[in-house]
Amino acid sequence: MGQLSVDDIQLILDTADSFKDISLREIKKVPTLRGKSVVNFFYEASTRTRTSFEVAAKRLSADTFSLTASASSMVKGETLLDTGRNLQAMSPDVIVIRHSSSGAPHLLAKGVKACVVNAGDGINEHPTQALLDLYTIRERKGRIRGLNVAIIGDIAHSRVARSNMIGLTKMGANVTIGGPPTMIPVGMEAFGVEVVPDPRKAIREKDVVMMLRIQLERQRKTLFPSLREYSAAFGLDTEALKSAKPDCVIMHPGPINRGVEISSELADGPASLILDQVANGVAVRMAILYLLIGGSKADAVDKERTAG
Ligand code: CP
Repeated sequence: MGQLSVDDIQLILDTADSFKDISLREIKKVPTLRGKSVVNFFYEASTRTRTSFEVAAKRLSADTFSLTASASSMVKGETLLDTGRNLQAMSPDVIVIRHSSSGAPHLLAKGVKACVVNAGDGINEHPTQALLDLYTIRERKGRIRGLNVAIIGDIAHSRVARSNMIGLTKMGANVTIGGPPTMIPVGMEAFGVEVVPDPRKAIREKDVVMMLRIQLERQRKTLFPSLREYSAAFGLDTEALKSAKPDCVIMHPGPINRGVEISSELADGPASLILDQVANGVAVRMAILYLLIGGSKADAVDKERTAG
């Protein structure tokens, strides 16, 4: 998100709009990227992002190939760059990469000719998640500028939080972050956000509350006494949400820990946009693939109309 201008973000969201209804048709496919190939290279587990890139590519008629770290020769000691060069030798148009190391996609992009899309790198960024979150907020609220958004949870280890802080502030939202002080790094105000650790205060009068998963896999030591205490002090339930605006919506990038950061009642309730986020992820990733290897937005709209 750091690399994208406001105009870039706007273009991606508008292009996603033109692709969204393809997923609602009986025949969910257009020929836009026929003959193009997309490699999904996931070095970390994923349900939503990997599936959604694959669905997005297939709905645009691109060929897709998947590679996981455990099934690649990286387990035999091959470096990321060598793996990338070997993939490049098979002439893919796009490599989508998720990696546990921050900066891995940027390193790969220097070593290959294919377009590289960051599907989440360490604790750095998860830009396509932030883009689908922006799309979902705009779709529900009709705008992003001027909205009050709280991001609550494990800020320190969340690439989703970083990408959303960058994206939301670029698009003119007022962002407040909250969560255990042990999970909020010093200096977060540099992102242009307000820091209010107590979630009960952080969500007051908010239009959108985005809850985050505790990234236990990225913590070197436990940063709170127990899951029960975390839930009691920092979890969100229907009662706690009463201090937000009456039409406040709840978001979560998934996977959710039910009963820890969010109650089931809230996650499955009418204010929840969690599954809208997943559905919109396909349209946003179709837009990204199209804009990288398909042509201009005007062409996208024309081709979509022709196909429709
Ligand atoms: N939101 C997200 O990145 O989910 P996955 O880890 O399942 O891809």
